[in-house]
Amino acid sequence: MSAIKIAENVHWVGVKDPDLRLFDIVVETKHGTTYNAYLIKGKNSAALIDTVKAGFTDEYLANLREIMPIEEIEYLIVNHTESDHSGAIVPLLEINPKLKLVCSAPALPFVQNTVNNPEVDITGIKNDHEIDLGGKKLIFKMMPYMHWPDTMMEYLEEDKILFPCDGFAGHYSFESIWADECNHDIDWEVEYYYKSIMRTYAMYIRKNMPKLDDLDIKIIAPSHGPLFRKNPERHLNSYREWSADKTVGKNQVCLFYTTSYGNTKRLADSLSSHLTAAGYEVVMLDCANLDEDYAKDMIEQSKALLYGTPTFNGDAVKPVWDAIMLLQGLSIMGKKAAVFGSYGWGGEGIKLVAERLTGLRLKVFEENYRARLVPSGEEMTGLKVWSERIAEFIA
Ligand code: FEO
Repeated sequence: MSAIKIAENVHWVGVKDPDLRLFDIVVETKHGTTYNAYLIKGKNSAALIDTVKAGFTDEYLANLREIMPIEEIEYLIVNHTESDHSGAIVPLLEINPKLKLVCSAPALPFVQNTVNNPEVDITGIKNDHEIDLGGKKLIFKMMPYMHWPDTMMEYLEEDKILFPCDGFAGHYSFESIWADECNHDIDWEVEYYYKSIMRTYAMYIRKNMPKLDDLDIKIIAPSHGPLFRKNPERHLNSYREWSADKTVGKNQVCLFYTTSYGNTKRLADSLSSHLTAAGYEVVMLDCANLDEDYAKDMIEQSKALLYGTPTFNGDAVKPVWDAIMLLQGLSIMGKKAAVFGSYGWGGEGIKLVAERLTGLRLKVFEENYRARLVPSGEEMTGLKVWSERIAEFIA
């Protein structure tokens, strides 16, 4: 694949990886992906935005040489340091040791650890930093945790192009680089990418998105998949919508449970009744029969997550652990949580679930509630008292 012009003196110089079927171990890529990089030539200088995954270096270097000698490129902009975009930094430096690396201030140690050479010129910049290449001015926007802590984006003022790192990206490889020349449902791919990779950072995305509000964006040129030149605002709006705080206007609690002989279910039903009486909208989900997409939506909409688990063989049961795994892809930091359940011998599963939720940085109620085997009248009264404390804790 050769370099492709996307504007005057602005070229796509990335590579395509159409055979990739699994990205970052966990994300399915049925149609492969691309590692996009861009070369911008001004009157006085030239800047390269990102490199590619190791293994594609030769093709990438060949694309660059189609446009200009690599030795004459002044800047390498590192939008974040994940390996699929930083794999050719060292080979580039071997060709052009004077290359000036530009990254966000938080990326500085990561880039240093990537090049492992104190002689390399690396600058960590701040929001609204500018580099004028001569008729090509780049304005930098720091976008922490969208999706790495070091993520930044650039806006090329003259051509109105946004280079948003992994933002608005989709894993899709085809003959063209333009979304409007593709017959596939690219919108689906962009949403799938968001749900697979970005969703867990929703809290940060909604904080960062306003930094793009004043930019007149005509082209979005992400780091994976097709570029958008028709109605790019649509993709910005999708990110605004997807990352919005879904708990606003709701007083919802998500109550996960599972049960073998009905005892934990009895506790769950009673807890639900008490919380409903306290003014909460309770969504009950049986972990053994979960619609994962629906469960993720409910988690995002809820201010608190409650987990009821039996204990078998000194542990919580697999359906409960599977339900907890859903949290990994979601923005949950700071949500409140509590754990309860029925048990026979030691009740260790309840404690283990509470510890795991704490590890995921939820605010877990200090006291779990346990009832042995068939909950007695006294235990159900104790659950009512505990429920009242939970209602206050969540408020
Ligand atoms: Fe495409 Fe975050 O790397």
